[in-house]
Amino acid sequence: MSRLAGRRALVTGASSGIGEAYARALHARGCALVLVARREERLRALASELGGDVQVVAADLAAPEGPQRVYEGVRARGLAVDVLVNNAGLGHTGRFEQEPLAAIQNILDVNARAAMMMTRLFLPDMVARRQGVVVNVVSTSAFQPVPFLAVYGASKAFLLSLTEALATELKDTGVIVQALCPGLTATEFQGVAGTDRVPFNRTGSMTPAAVAAASIRGIERGSLRVVPGLSNRVLSALVPLTPGWLVRRIGAKLFQPSPQGH
Ligand SMILES: NC(=O)c1ccc[n+]([C@@H]2O[C@H](COP(=O)([O-])OP(=O)(O)OC[C@H]3O[C@@H](n4cnc5c(N)ncnc54)[C@H](OP(=O)(O)O)[C@@H]3O)[C@@H](O)[C@H]2O)c1
Repeated sequence: MSRLAGRRALVTGASSGIGEAYARALHARGCALVLVARREERLRALASELGGDVQVVAADLAAPEGPQRVYEGVRARGLAVDVLVNNAGLGHTGRFEQEPLAAIQNILDVNARAAMMMTRLFLPDMVARRQGVVVNVVSTSAFQPVPFLAVYGASKAFLLSLTEALATELKDTGVIVQALCPGLTATEFQGVAGTDRVPFNRTGSMTPAAVAAASIRGIERGSLRVVPGLSNRVLSALVPLTPGWLVRRIGAKLFQPSPQGH
């Protein structure tokens, strides 16, 4: 039986970028949807454009009870989630000691804590039904420390480690997990993170639709780690073969904001 057609998928961060593309791709595959993000008007516009069984749950996943409220909201509507896509996320480039405390806490809360809590909340129902898919949207930033994007990289390393550990725990349960590790993708992320002002932004980017399509192919194959795009796969394969000091120096060159901010 298909892992997608006729299933219900919940996508966090569906109000833009990769999450929106994911929602469109899953809808085209015959999934019913639950769309989650803070910007409710965008979610409602997408739901009415797509049509069919598309539910909207507006939530701030950085709030302490955010993930729990989403889970309870879904259960209160009598919905079972078969495919969970923990996509909501953000980063910020800058010197760690100058980053506002609230801003770095927010990055960790959305990228790491909320994704972990959502997985923990929805997983038992999937295991009980002996079928389900959890996709955690990680990043190639998880493969090495990233100077000047340090908290973001660390949050994604946490999520990659969690996801790959769960893959082994969940063997033989009927539930699969995927760590989707995109490289530079053309979304609102760059404006939020300030990476539109660093050299990294001049490297080639993928479209959100191509990233979502690669992940969906990975679900069909049951792939654990999915790195969309040939150049991202080549660069990721080179990282473990390169001395750590050199990888960090290249990262610093790519992500250090210029003094003028341009
Ligand atoms: N773009 C890239 O180059 C790239 C590369 C690798 C990995 N990624 C990862 O891809 C994922 C999606 O990012 P994107 O590139 O599509 O960026 P994006 O266009 O900025 O989308 C981010 C999404 O996260 C949601 N979000 C942020 N904070 C939230 C919160 N507190 N509560 C609920 N939702 C929240 C946003 O919705 P609201 O603002 O409406 O809440 C938005 O829908 C992220 O996990 C990111 O780390 C991106």
